[in-house]
Amino acid sequence: MNEAVADIHHYKLLILDFGSQYTQLIARRAREIGVYCEIHPCDMPDQQILEFGAAGIILSGGPESTIDECALPIPAAVFEASVPVLGICYGMQAMALHFGGEVVNSGHSEFGYAKIQVTADSELLNHLSDRADGTPELDVWMSHGDHVAKLPAGFECVASSGNAPIAVMADKNRNYYGIQFHPEVTHTTSGKEILQRFISQLCRCECEWTSDNIIDDAITRIRQQVGDEEVILALSGGVDSSVVALLLHRAIGDQLNCVFVDNGLLRLHEGDQVMKMFAENLGVKVIRVDAEKRFLQALDGEADPEAKRKIIGNVFIDVFEEEAAKLTSARWLAQGTIYPDVIESAGASTGKAHLIKSHHNVGGLPEDMSLKLIEPLRELFKDEVRRLGLELGLPAKMINRHPFPGPGLGVRILGPVCREYADILRRADAIFIDALYQHGLYEQVSQAFTVFLPVKSVGVTGDGRRYGYVLSLRAVETIDFMTARAAHLPYDFLDEVCRSILNEVSEVARVSYDISSKPPATIEWE
Ligand code: XMP
Repeated sequence: MNEAVADIHHYKLLILDFGSQYTQLIARRAREIGVYCEIHPCDMPDQQILEFGAAGIILSGGPESTIDECALPIPAAVFEASVPVLGICYGMQAMALHFGGEVVNSGHSEFGYAKIQVTADSELLNHLSDRADGTPELDVWMSHGDHVAKLPAGFECVASSGNAPIAVMADKNRNYYGIQFHPEVTHTTSGKEILQRFISQLCRCECEWTSDNIIDDAITRIRQQVGDEEVILALSGGVDSSVVALLLHRAIGDQLNCVFVDNGLLRLHEGDQVMKMFAENLGVKVIRVDAEKRFLQALDGEADPEAKRKIIGNVFIDVFEEEAAKLTSARWLAQGTIYPDVIESAGASTGKAHLIKSHHNVGGLPEDMSLKLIEPLRELFKDEVRRLGLELGLPAKMINRHPFPGPGLGVRILGPVCREYADILRRADAIFIDALYQHGLYEQVSQAFTVFLPVKSVGVTGDGRRYGYVLSLRAVETIDFMTARAAHLPYDFLDEVCRSILNEVSEVARVSYDISSKPPATIEWE
């Protein structure tokens, strides 16, 4: 391992969240550029802001109006920290007001694409153009009702749009910039370049936040934290716990003990695949617990979706605790908590975009295990975890696998769950998913799976009647899983999958395709 580990937290940015749905995107862009950053609420105490030691501060957009009385002000410490500040949308307006400028309501909101003309010199926008002939015009994404009407003292206007005459303002002496549009969304063509300039040229950050450095840093920290003590990890085979397993394995080898619980509600051959990859190929210590009977017994006769989720979550905790108790020398419990979970639970975000469903916490581990907690992914976004996984040698197919709910097939079998239903569903689902891969469609959809309906329908096979179960295929396209639309899979493809399932899974008499959007439907059927 690299002896001189780069200090990946040396250069860092502070992002104050005023509630924009795009705040996490700002952080992800900054990290892609190569600089560590943290999101904190817009009312972060002054002392903490100063102690944070940011090389620059970004003020996010937000749903509030700066003209309203309830407007959220910028903490004084932001401008006492003597670092460059970038205000985006609401952040710009709040900055204008802070320094004595004026904000007005345009009367007409501007949402979507807009053009801005660069009108004066600034480090942020100099020589930028989205036009082939070099005209200083940029295509940007706007989302605002208010705009700055009068510049505060010390600021000048450096770009304008039709609806926002002051689209970008700059105080070049103090390096304070306000931009009305959203550079963090990909619709703003030069958005990443603008953020890059703020981060590299104005804040003078060096780019040390790279997968290699993050891995080296994580390994060093794990070794320092854990010493020669043993660690337990609940390995599910999902991306997060897999990446934690590999990081820990690299850092501490056999001091890591993984526990893989097969709850009988996994996909076809999933348990064998997880064991093969981790135990056989990578040499990770994994204890496989075959707990199918226990889960199915506990679920017996239960039809209510939320009750099923609770049962599966509770049995998981029981089984895991029993296994952990056998590992008497373990002192640490590793978890695959990632940065969005940290933001949610700290309530760090004021944004509406960050709502989390309580039922998604099923599969959480007990808090009273008297083990110390180690969470190597706490600072990482999902896309960063994926990149780390690839770097650590996880196959791309596994990294890019669709999300699979903690309760597994338990919420894809409508009503009471039993082994027979789970087996039918597993076989049919494998046919659907394999076909998606074969036709190059798997990565074009965000999530695809099969649902089992415990009703029987009539069909014919040869000369006989066939009285079999009904399945539904579900494939959705979504960015954030909060809203989704049914994927427009080719009809011929659906036809082929349907015929394969009816031919190969004799218990099934009928296959349908779910075309419901979310909302009002959800992605899962339960
Ligand atoms: P819904 O059905 O709520 O699903 O539209 C949104 C996303 O969440 C996943 N999901 C779950 N994940 N435990 C999980 O870990 C659950 O109980 C659960 N329920 C839904 C679902 O697969 C989709 O990706």
